[in-house]
Amino acid sequence: MKFVILLFALSLAALATAQHASSSHLVCYYDGNSYVREGLSKLHTNDLEPALQFCSHLVYGYASISQTSNKLVSPNDKLDLDIGAGLYRTVTGFKKKYPHLKVLLSVGGDRDEVDPDNNKYLTLLESANARIPFINSAHSLVKTYGFDGLDLAWQFPKNKPKKVHSGIGKFWKGFKKIFSGDFVVDEKAEEHKEEFTALVRELKNALRPDGYLLGLSVLPNVNSSLFYDVPAIVNNLDYVNLHAYDFQTPERNPEVADFPAPIYELNERNPESNINFQVQYWLNNHCPATKINVGIAAYGRAWKLTKDSGLTGLPPVVETDGVAPAGTQTQKPGLLSWPEVCGKLPNPANQHLKGADGPLRKVGDPTKRFGNYAYRSADDSGENGIWVGYDDPDTAANKAAFVKSRGLGGVALVDLSFDDFRGACTGDKYPILRAIKFKL
Ligand SMILES: *[C@@H]1O[C@H](CO)[C@@H](O)[C@H](O)[C@H]1NC(C)=O
Repeated sequence: MKFVILLFALSLAALATAQHASSSHLVCYYDGNSYVREGLSKLHTNDLEPALQFCSHLVYGYASISQTSNKLVSPNDKLDLDIGAGLYRTVTGFKKKYPHLKVLLSVGGDRDEVDPDNNKYLTLLESANARIPFINSAHSLVKTYGFDGLDLAWQFPKNKPKKVHSGIGKFWKGFKKIFSGDFVVDEKAEEHKEEFTALVRELKNALRPDGYLLGLSVLPNVNSSLFYDVPAIVNNLDYVNLHAYDFQTPERNPEVADFPAPIYELNERNPESNINFQVQYWLNNHCPATKINVGIAAYGRAWKLTKDSGLTGLPPVVETDGVAPAGTQTQKPGLLSWPEVCGKLPNPANQHLKGADGPLRKVGDPTKRFGNYAYRSADDSGENGIWVGYDDPDTAANKAAFVKSRGLGGVALVDLSFDDFRGACTGDKYPILRAIKFKL
C-alpha cells in the first residue's frame, strides 16, 4: 500500500514538473508578407501547421495605422480581410485545431514604413483624441476576426548605431565618429513615454472586459529607457517580447561586421547591445521575469567583405562594404533566412563549387555567448566576400537555455517564415523552433 502511495506521489510530482516545463511561452510571429513572396520563401498558411503544436502564441503582423483616421487598419485588405480567404480569419481559425493557441494581431513592426519626420506612431500618441479611434478600431478588429488580443510593435525612433570597433589604422576615423556631437533620438521622448503609458492603460481598459490580451513587442534598437515607463505599463501588459537582435546590421554598420544578436556584451563600447542587458533593464525596472520573452531572429545578417577585410573572418571584421547580395529565396540584400544560410554552409551539393556558389567556412560558438558566423574572404579581384552572423538551432537553444536559467517567461521567434519551414536543411521542418521548444 505504501508503495502504491509513493508511486502515486511520484507520478503527481512528475506531472507537476511536466506542467511546469510546458508553462514557458513560445511566441511565434507570422508576417503576412511572407504569404505574398514568390517561390520557396512563400509561407502558405498550410505550411504553418507543423509549427503550431509548438507555439503558445501566434502573433500575426502587421496591421498599420491610417494617418487620416488614426484607425487600426490592414495595409492589404485583400490579403487580410477577404471573406473566406483572408488571413485574419485563417490564422484565428487555427484555434479550433490548436485550442491552446492564443492568436494576436500586431500593429507596427519595422515593416510598416514610417516617415521619420512625421512618424504617425508618435503623432497618434500626442493627442488623446487621436487615441480614441485607434483604441475603438483595435478593439473592433480583434473582436470581429476572433483574435485573442493586440500586440503593440510600436515604432519609436531608433538608437543611432555606434561604431563597433576601429582597427589600428582606423582609430582616428572611429574616434571622430563617436564624438561627433550628441545625437538626440527624439526631442520629445519624455512626453512620448508618458503618452504611451496612457495609451497602454486606455487600451487595456478597452480590452479587459472581453478578456483580450495586450502585449508589447520592443523593436530592435529602440531604447527602452527613453520610451517605456516600465513600472507604469507592466501591470497592463500580458507580456513583453524583447526583440533583442539586429544590434549590428550591414545597414546600420556598413563598415564593420559583428555578431548581430549576442547574449552577452561584445565590447565596452556597446554595453547595451546584447540580450542580457536588455533583459536586465526590464527586470531592474520591476517587470516580472515571467512576462519577458526573449526575441530570437531566424535569419542571419550578411555583410560584403572586401580585400581589406582580412582573411581570418574573426569579428569585428573591418572594411566591409555594406549589405551582401540577397539570398535566392528571400531576396533581401544583407538578410539570409536560416535555410539560405544552411545552404551556404559546407554540404555535399556545394563542396566542389567555386566563387559565389562555393561553401562558406563555418565558425561555431563554444562559449555559447555570441552566436555563429560563417564567411568567405574576397577573392583576388575583390569579389565574392561575405560574412554572415546568425543563430542556428544550436545557438537558438543556447538562448532558450539562458531564458530558462533566468526564470523568464519564454522565447519569441521572429519569424516562422525565416525558419526552415520546408525542412530543406536536414529534413526537419522548423528546426530552430523545435530546438527552442526542446530547451524550454
Ligand atoms: C538609452 O538612453 C539612455 C538615457 O535614457 C542613455 O543613457 C543610453 O546611452 C541610451 N542607449 C543607447 C544604446 O543609445
